[in-house]
Amino acid sequence: MFAMIYLDANATTPLCPEAAAAMTAAIAQFLANPSSLHARGQAARARLEQARNAVRDAVGGGSGKIVWTSGATEANALAWHGILSPRLRQGPVRVVTTAVEHPSIVALATAWQQAGADVVTLPVDSAGRLDLHAAAAALQQPTTLVSVMAVQNELGVVYPLAELAPLAHAAGALLHCDATQAPGRIPLKLEPLGVDLASLSAHKAGGPTGIGALWLRRGVVVAPLVAGHQEDGLRGGTENVLGAMGMAAAFATLPTRLATMPRLRQLRDALWLGVQALGPVARNGAVAAHEETGHVLNVAWPGIDGARLVRALDLDGVCVSSGAACASGTQEPSHVLVACGQTPAQARAGVRFSLGPETTAADIDTVLALLARLLPRLRDAQRAQL
Ligand SMILES: Cc1ncc(COP(=O)(O)O)c(C=O)c1O
Repeated sequence: MFAMIYLDANATTPLCPEAAAAMTAAIAQFLANPSSLHARGQAARARLEQARNAVRDAVGGGSGKIVWTSGATEANALAWHGILSPRLRQGPVRVVTTAVEHPSIVALATAWQQAGADVVTLPVDSAGRLDLHAAAAALQQPTTLVSVMAVQNELGVVYPLAELAPLAHAAGALLHCDATQAPGRIPLKLEPLGVDLASLSAHKAGGPTGIGALWLRRGVVVAPLVAGHQEDGLRGGTENVLGAMGMAAAFATLPTRLATMPRLRQLRDALWLGVQALGPVARNGAVAAHEETGHVLNVAWPGIDGARLVRALDLDGVCVSSGAACASGTQEPSHVLVACGQTPAQARAGVRFSLGPETTAADIDTVLALLARLLPRLRDAQRAQL
């Protein structure tokens, strides 16, 4: 059995030892229902509230509120539905978002457009940067909600939320931020940043899957998606105490994860240099250092299908990602690369390497050696098919 090299940290991250230890200790004891009145229940409640405060503080949530969810997908849905449903009953609603949001937001945009909302999608340039002038122009009109991600998951591009916040507020809107890819990658202080709602997920920062949160600025109220008395009526269902404890333990390590970012940038740059030495290749999301996280390399080799390369690398134990989502056997091109102006064929070639704190220089050397062997073979095979 070969060793695995995991360069897919934007898909999910390995559970960090701190989260694993916290969860293992908790699972060995008994976690009762935090709504139960007995001592066991109240002990679980205390742990849940401790975890809530820890997560809020880890992301600079200040006096805001953490509502537990099953992950960022649900947090995104709670933000959109929670803000838009009550307002749609009172009159027209308008949402401004971007063309490169996560598919969970793209789906919400489509659903809300069908429900009668005016949804404006902001363009990005060929490198995936948001056009602030276009944002300012779109926000000349009264708006209900602005929803812009903090870090683009396919490219690692960072979006200017601090600049967007006053524009959104001047238009009368609340600013929602899908911050899933930000914790541990960029310094994140939600309250001073000026956003009003933020979606978080544990498993992109060393925590377990199945737990996340919606952060709400103090005073911001959302209508629930799931009715129930839990979470102050904002999200029904018995809370995932174990997951919350895992998320809190992982988020306690955010400063350490952040401190690894300069090293990851060096490794990423070494990967890019090495890749360029292997022949013609295009880089997606090539922006200035301060406009990106530094741990993502998204590249396209002309004449090589991204998903094919992903599968070939996987056979040698290397985990990476192509932007394409497999839907019923067909490869949908990445909507992000299409938004950057690429043709569907170009967008299908994109391959994403996303590094994590576990990545070593030896991993990068191994992957480069493997690419040197695989690329000519894949190119020949694909040419022979044409
Ligand atoms: C930007 C972004 N938003 C939302 C999600 C969904 O997160 P979760 O898996 O917690 O639902 C992801 C996961 O890939 C993401 O990258």
